Amino acid sequence: MEGMWVEILTTDQPASSYFVAENDLGEVVGFATGGAVREANQAGDGEIYAIYVLEAYQGRGIGRRLVSAVAQRLRADGFISALAWVLEDNQTARQFYESLGGEQFGNRTATIGRVNLVEVSYSWSDITPLVVERAD
Ligand SMILES: CC(C)(COP(=O)(O)OP(=O)(O)OC[C@H]1O[C@@H](n2cnc3c(N)ncnc32)[C@H](O)[C@@H]1OP(=O)(O)O)[C@@H](O)C(=O)NCCC(=O)NCCS
Repeated sequence: MEGMWVEILTTDQPASSYFVAENDLGEVVGFATGGAVREANQAGDGEIYAIYVLEAYQGRGIGRRLVSAVAQRLRADGFISALAWVLEDNQTARQFYESLGGEQFGNRTATIGRVNLVEVSYSWSDITPLVVERAD
């Protein structure tokens, strides 16, 4: 897992951004990444690649603010729309994206080893509403 993130964070991708959320001690408790859509012919020109908030910090609005940071950067880079892929079984993340106004767009199957995993995508035709003002 750590190796995967080292590769993702050190591989130069055009127009990609990375944001972290820190607690009062300066410890990283969440992150989100986004940038240009990775596969053509999809319902977005930008993409939220991944988001993760430590379990103890979930449900406090951190995920919403991380998405806001990615959306703000996407908009500044000239992107209008966005999408996000999530495992079909990940109900928490699906409800998260739905509460952020994402509309279910399509699905795809990823094969990891011998396991077929279905992913669904959520799209935002306009990312502007994803940008929220900081509450603090
Ligand atoms: C999905 C995830 C990023 C959400 O982060 P979070 O900080 O808990 O989300 P927020 O507190 O900002 O919630 C925003 C909205 O999402 C919805 N939501 C979040 N978690 C939810 C849950 N478990 N059940 C239902 N709705 C949920 C709520 O409607 C919430 O709106 P509210 O603040 O008005 O109540 C977090 O649960 C997580 O990291 N999960 C594990 C990793 C993962 O699945 N990542 C996505 C795939 S890459």
